[in-house]
Amino acid sequence: MGEVDQIVPLITNYKMGKFNLSHRVVLAPLTRQRSYGNVPQKHAILYYSQRTSKGGLLITEATGVSDTAQGYPDTPGIWTKEQVEAWKPIVDAVHAKGGIFFCQIWHVGRVSNYGFQPNGQAPISSTDKPLTPQLRANGIDMAEFSTPRRLRTDEIPEIVNDFRTAARNAIEAGFDGVEIHGAHGYLLDQFMKDKVNDRTDEYGGSLENRCRFSLQVVEAVAEEIGADRVGIRLSPFSEFSEAADSNPEALALYMAESLNKFGILYCHMVEPRLKLSTAIISETPFTLQPMRKTFKGTFIVAGGYTREEGNKAIADGRADLVAYGKWFIANPDLPRRFELDAPLNKYNRDTFYTSDSVVGYVDYPFLDSHSQTSN
Ligand SMILES: Cc1cc2nc3c(=O)[nH]c(=O)nc-3n(C[C@H](O)[C@H](O)[C@H](O)COP(=O)(O)O)c2cc1C
Repeated sequence: MGEVDQIVPLITNYKMGKFNLSHRVVLAPLTRQRSYGNVPQKHAILYYSQRTSKGGLLITEATGVSDTAQGYPDTPGIWTKEQVEAWKPIVDAVHAKGGIFFCQIWHVGRVSNYGFQPNGQAPISSTDKPLTPQLRANGIDMAEFSTPRRLRTDEIPEIVNDFRTAARNAIEAGFDGVEIHGAHGYLLDQFMKDKVNDRTDEYGGSLENRCRFSLQVVEAVAEEIGADRVGIRLSPFSEFSEAADSNPEALALYMAESLNKFGILYCHMVEPRLKLSTAIISETPFTLQPMRKTFKGTFIVAGGYTREEGNKAIADGRADLVAYGKWFIANPDLPRRFELDAPLNKYNRDTFYTSDSVVGYVDYPFLDSHSQTSN
């Protein structure tokens, strides 16, 4: 590996609120289904610390806000004392290496079934329309979804409060902040998108009404831990988990404008071109640029980025930071490799969601030690 003689836009400093980042390569939130019984495990200490660089931003895998929030096996939570305690050594390990660590908090809503719910009850949602069975991401298993129960208007503040409590717990666990998961057809998206939300109360109908729940979550979380520690992830253009909107551009813009009122730290947007269910990059007439121009905080983009495209997005001012998913799974030292333009390890989809604590998780190799020190 030679000298770095050219500026690599992804490897330049960036000040995100009070956080001094030394580069723009973010670890995207990545569900890995290795948190047995919804409790983060010791092997996650190594996994996250491998992916930590000094001044790098990491976002955790989606983490449940309550016992009704789960829809996949062995995903972590942050609603019990045991879970909070289990996160602490993971957060400490990331901090020890100088990383900045945000916890992605979610509620899956109707992307669930009786088996994941307390007392076998129905999953909750904005609607009582069920999802059709889907092939799981491993391409083999079918995911079965139970008919959800439409939340009553008077129950919604309780769910908002679950997000508030989860955010407080995240700070107690030592996280630098939280990312509210408002993307990919989970509970917040089930309220925002008009092809799912069929409510007639003040949480359904107009754009303002459909976004009310998400914005109440943002407000509550910001009030609880400070807006300067809050980010949100949105995918207005995605149709993942049957959550589509008839006018995603209007939804995107409305959210960007509304988020400005709370002064939150960042907005993390998933590119319209990415079809998450198939991970296929497709041509699309949509762009995130109107949102980029409207949102006043840090703008993070994700979805099918290569080193080259990430560099270009930063150089062109289309994003402040770029989150990488699959490449970061396979390359624990991804920022370093991007800096050196080093070759990348290939990722193995077959082990994305398997439960082994080593294989496909912490066994992807680093660049050899010579390369790591030669610069
Ligand atoms: C194994 C896997 C797990 C994922 N889990 C999450 C998740 O927990 N939360 C989330 O918002 N997105 C999740 N995503 C989406 C990624 O964060 C990212 O947006 C997506 O992979 C596209 O980026 P990439 O092309 O760089 O991988 C996941 C993706 C993969 C491949």
